[in-house]
Amino acid sequence: MKKNGILKIDNVSSEYIVEKYGTPVIVMEENKIRKNCQLYKNSIDEFYEGKGMVYYASKAFSCKEIYRIIMDEGLGIDIVSKGELYTALSVGFPVENIIFHGNNKSEEELRYAIENNIGRIVIDNVEEISIISDLAKKYSKIINVILRVKPGVDAHTHDFIKTGQIDSKFGFGIENQEAIEIIKCILKYKNIKFKGIHCHIGSQIFSIDPFIHTAEIMMHFILDIKKQFDIDIEELNLGGGYGIKYINSDDPPDYREYMKEISKIIFKISKDNGIKVPYIMMEPGRSIVGESGTTLYTVGGEKCIKNIRNYLSIDGGMIDNPRYILYQAEYDMIIGNKCDLKKDKLYTIAGKCCESGDIIGKNILLQDAEKGDILAVFSTGAYNYSMASNYNRIPRPSVISVKDGKDKLIVKRESYDDILKNDI
Ligand code: LLP
Repeated sequence: MKKNGILKIDNVSSEYIVEKYGTPVIVMEENKIRKNCQLYKNSIDEFYEGKGMVYYASKAFSCKEIYRIIMDEGLGIDIVSKGELYTALSVGFPVENIIFHGNNKSEEELRYAIENNIGRIVIDNVEEISIISDLAKKYSKIINVILRVKPGVDAHTHDFIKTGQIDSKFGFGIENQEAIEIIKCILKYKNIKFKGIHCHIGSQIFSIDPFIHTAEIMMHFILDIKKQFDIDIEELNLGGGYGIKYINSDDPPDYREYMKEISKIIFKISKDNGIKVPYIMMEPGRSIVGESGTTLYTVGGEKCIKNIRNYLSIDGGMIDNPRYILYQAEYDMIIGNKCDLKKDKLYTIAGKCCESGDIIGKNILLQDAEKGDILAVFSTGAYNYSMASNYNRIPRPSVISVKDGKDKLIVKRESYDDILKNDI
């Protein structure tokens, strides 16, 4: 392997990582994750008088070590399945700081959550209300719920990751009265405590305007609920969705600015209408772990199709990063053992699956690459490992964490026995 400047990730050499762990390997920078947690927490303290909580949306990356870090930083989590909950409970995550989302939670999942005294369940369909009530009766418990609503805001993001508009499988519409009807229904159940309302307008959003607009709509909905039912909504959950930097032209929002603006609005609307300021809940996922991840691959070779394109093959692809194939997501990359050379060659990065669409980037400017080089892809900490698959029976990669020059394995590479383990 030719060497012209080796990439280091928090002072750990990418060459050393590749030799020790093999490829593909996802490298998570622990310090960055912790710093992001602190930014979110401190912003609530600074602008919202500390009356709130940050819940890491763990669908972005769920594994034991991430839950340990999040727990250590004092954040809560949002989970959307028994699998995520099971993982979190396996490291002793405090149940009161867990919120259970999902548009179709099964009875088994609800039972597991209730047996384990999970903090909040987010109501996202009519059917689950009576299931929750029956389980509450069975276990003699009062279950705290919040209701997912659709504020009707267009979040200017990819169609597949937009959720706040009326035509969405998540939540109940405010403008078409669906949400009010559901609240009527929830209030009939004595063993369900209606604590608050939730929305999530989409993901990878760069402008703070749709968030501010959403906060206003949600506050007006709280006033409406007060008028119609004479109840005080204690909790306002505004979801996640703050964008991160994948490529140079990405310009993520300043989170402190966002928190400052929405705090002003919520405090003002509360004061003007004589209601108590709601406890605020935030659910960032991507922006906690996304930029802390880097995936390292080994280059297999090049296929140059004259006057068309150069394919550069890597030993991973859509199996560990399906985001290009799903959303045409763009990434910044570098040849990790040639950092000092100029990027002067255009490549399309091809994965190893038997699928023409298996690429992770088109027309990427890189250093002249050859077999054995390290390809490093940045900002792969969110929605990469968590959306990885075993297509073509390729084992999922390993994940390591690095911190101040030290490395640690956090998820083992899948073995071929793992691949066979459910086959009869
Ligand atoms: N809260 C709720 C209820 C959500 O549905 C989500 C994301 C979040 C919070 C966190 O959003 P974030 O801060 O991570 O943007 N697979 C897609 C993203 C799907 C997001 C699903 N929900 C991607 O790779 O871009």
